[in-house]
Amino acid sequence: MRKVKKAIIPAAGLGTRFLPATKAMPKEMLPIVDKPTIQYIVEEAIESGIEDIIIVTGKGKRAIEDHFDYAPELENNLIEKEKFELLEKVRQSSNVDIHYIRQKEPKGLGHAVWCARKFIGNEPFAVLLGDDIVQAETPALRQLMDQYDSTLSSVIGVQTVPANQTHRYGIVDPVSNDERLYQVNKFVEKPAPGTAPSNLAIMGRYVFTPEIFTFLEQQDIGAGGEIQLTDAIEELNKHRFVYAYDFEGKRHDVGEKMGFIKTTIEFALKNAELRDETLEFMQTILKENLSLNKGK
Ligand code: G1P
Repeated sequence: MRKVKKAIIPAAGLGTRFLPATKAMPKEMLPIVDKPTIQYIVEEAIESGIEDIIIVTGKGKRAIEDHFDYAPELENNLIEKEKFELLEKVRQSSNVDIHYIRQKEPKGLGHAVWCARKFIGNEPFAVLLGDDIVQAETPALRQLMDQYDSTLSSVIGVQTVPANQTHRYGIVDPVSNDERLYQVNKFVEKPAPGTAPSNLAIMGRYVFTPEIFTFLEQQDIGAGGEIQLTDAIEELNKHRFVYAYDFEGKRHDVGEKMGFIKTTIEFALKNAELRDETLEFMQTILKENLSLNKGK
């Protein structure tokens, strides 16, 4: 039986929701407190036991490669200044190899995954999307990999979202479940409001058998004029079971402004050095703003 050892992280998106910040900087490098969002994703993959990561980049994404590279001048400077804590933060993990490939045209998520097919070959593999940071006791991807180990089938990470949010996600139509694991009748990408078959939304974590590439190969254009990964999953599910797994953990949406702000505040509150001052500051601005509202 083949284990899941490789992961794809698509990072070729234009980041239009964060313009102008993303005009000259990849959105994946925007920090939550002091770490770029993509580093949280890479760390989850490493903690899940992934050994090789391929990041699918595009134009203007070189900062990602520099970020995960060895930085000798910076490290020497920190050693000279005896800033050993910072040194630990900039040193890269040696438990994983990170590779890069460029998606030459922005044709969507399905196409980005397809671009990495030669790197994956005939093995099961994971996909992690950078817009979702998940905090969990067992990393979200590890939970899916465990399900893969017992089902030997593709497993898609899902969580429940409010009914008025279903149009923003890939949604599953479940037929039956064994606790958190669902058999699925249908996968639909971004159903029109009011038409979603359930509230179970795809949350940026996937484990696939390599057959998914056969369906991505067909390159049919789907929702939003892009080649959709969800459409290929729907086709694969017609031939072989694709399961959905309602993983445990708190998911933070850092792919849009409000989610990014909320995540920043929550992570600042989890940081021992920042917690007290952040709380104090929040109390002050809350008071100021509540009294302003009263005056209206
Ligand atoms: C993508 C997927 C969608 C999934 C979402 C999770 O959409 O296509 O199925 O639910 O990520 O964040 P995007 O947010 O890139 O439009």
